[in-house]
Amino acid sequence: MSAAQPPRTVTVTGAAGNIGYALLFRIASGEMLGADVPVRLRLLEVPAALRAAEGTAMELADAAFPLLADVQVTHDPAVAFDGVQHALLVGARPRSAGMERGDLLEANGGIFGPQGQAINDHAAEDVRVVVVGNPANTNALIAASHARDVPADRFTALTRLDHNRAVSQLAAKAGVAVTDVDGITVWGNHSATQFPDLTHARVRVGGADGGWRPALEVVDAGWAAEEFIPRVAERGAEIISVRGASSAASAASATIDHMRDWFLGTGVGTDGQARRTSAAIVSDGSYGVPEGLISSFPVVSEGGQWRIVPGLEPDAALLPDAAERLERTVAELDEEREAVTGLGLL
Ligand code: NAD
Ligand code: LMR
Repeated sequence: MSAAQPPRTVTVTGAAGNIGYALLFRIASGEMLGADVPVRLRLLEVPAALRAAEGTAMELADAAFPLLADVQVTHDPAVAFDGVQHALLVGARPRSAGMERGDLLEANGGIFGPQGQAINDHAAEDVRVVVVGNPANTNALIAASHARDVPADRFTALTRLDHNRAVSQLAAKAGVAVTDVDGITVWGNHSATQFPDLTHARVRVGGADGGWRPALEVVDAGWAAEEFIPRVAERGAEIISVRGASSAASAASATIDHMRDWFLGTGVGTDGQARRTSAAIVSDGSYGVPEGLISSFPVVSEGGQWRIVPGLEPDAALLPDAAERLERTVAELDEEREAVTGLGLL
C-alpha cells in the first residue's frame, strides 16, 4: 500500500439499509477503488435510522480495515456530500400499498432533488454519482437537474445488476463460465421494460483455448426471446418473491462493479479488445435515445469517463422485434421524464 495516496471520500445514502450493509465493508476493504486507495466514508441516513447507521460504523471500526481513514454518520446532506468524490445514492422511498407511480416519483423527487442540490453545493470537482434507489434512472435525472454546476455526465444509474444477471443466465444456458461470455448490452430503463440484448454477444466454447462464437449460434433465438429476456427483466421481482426482500448483496456487488469500472476503467478482455459493459448514463442522442435521458447503453470506461460504444444497434435479423424492444424501454423513460417534469421535479 502506498502511504502517499490521500483518502477518497465516498458517500453512501441509505447506509443503514440492506444494500448499504452489503456495500460498506467491501468499499472499506478496497474492492471498489483499489487495494492501495484509502477511503473516507460518509453515511447518510434519515434521523430514524441514524442509530442503526452508527451501529454499522461501529462494526466498520471493529473490522480494522487498513484502508479506512474515517467514518462519519449524519442525516444532513450538506455534511454527507461535503467533498464527496464517489456518491452512491441508495436510499429511496419504497412503494407502499396503494401508492400510485406518480406518488412514488413525487416522494423520490423529495429525496433526490435536495441530494442533487447538496452535491452541487458541496461535492468535489471530480464527483461521480451512481443512483441505485428506484426508480433509479429517473431519480438520477432528478438529482442531475438539481446540480446545474456539475457536468450531467457525472450522474449515472445502476443497470450493472441487470447486466450481471444477463451474463450469468447466458453462461448457464451455454454451459460455460461467466468469463466466457461477453458483448451483452442492457438497454434502457432499470425496470421490466429493459432490453437485455444478445444480438452482439459472444460465447467462448472450449474454455481458455476455445474460440469465440456468436451467442445466438450457441443458444437459440427462441430461448433468448421467450426465456432469457423476461427472466433477466423480471429477476428483481423473482428475487423479491423467493427471498422475501429486494436483492441486496448482488445489488451492492453490481454497484461496486459500476463505480470501480468508472474510476479505474473497463480495460481489455482476453482477446485484447476493449471490454464493454452496460451502464445508465446521460444520452447524447445515440441510438435514437432522446438527449438528456439517463438510459442504459453499451459502454466502456476510459480515462475515468464512460463512453457509449457506437455500431451496436440491436440486430433485427437475429431478433425480429429488437428495434421495438429498444423503443419501448426508451419510451418508458421519456414518460417518466414527462411525469416528473409535470410534477415540477426537474
Ligand atoms: P432498505 O429499505 O433496506 O434501505 C433503504 C434505506 O434508505 C433505509 O435505511 C432508509 O432509512 C434509507 N433512506 C430513505 N430515505 C432516505 C434519505 N432521504 N436519505 C438517506 N437515507 C434514506 O432498501 P435496500 O434494499 O437497501 O434498497 C434500496 C433501494 O435500492 C430501493 O429503492 C431498491 O428498490 C433499490 N434497488 C435498486 C437496484 C438496482 O439495480 N438499481 C437493485 C436492488 C434494489
Ligand atoms: C432489482 O432489480 O433487484 C430491484 O430493482 C428490485 C426492486 O424493486 O427493488
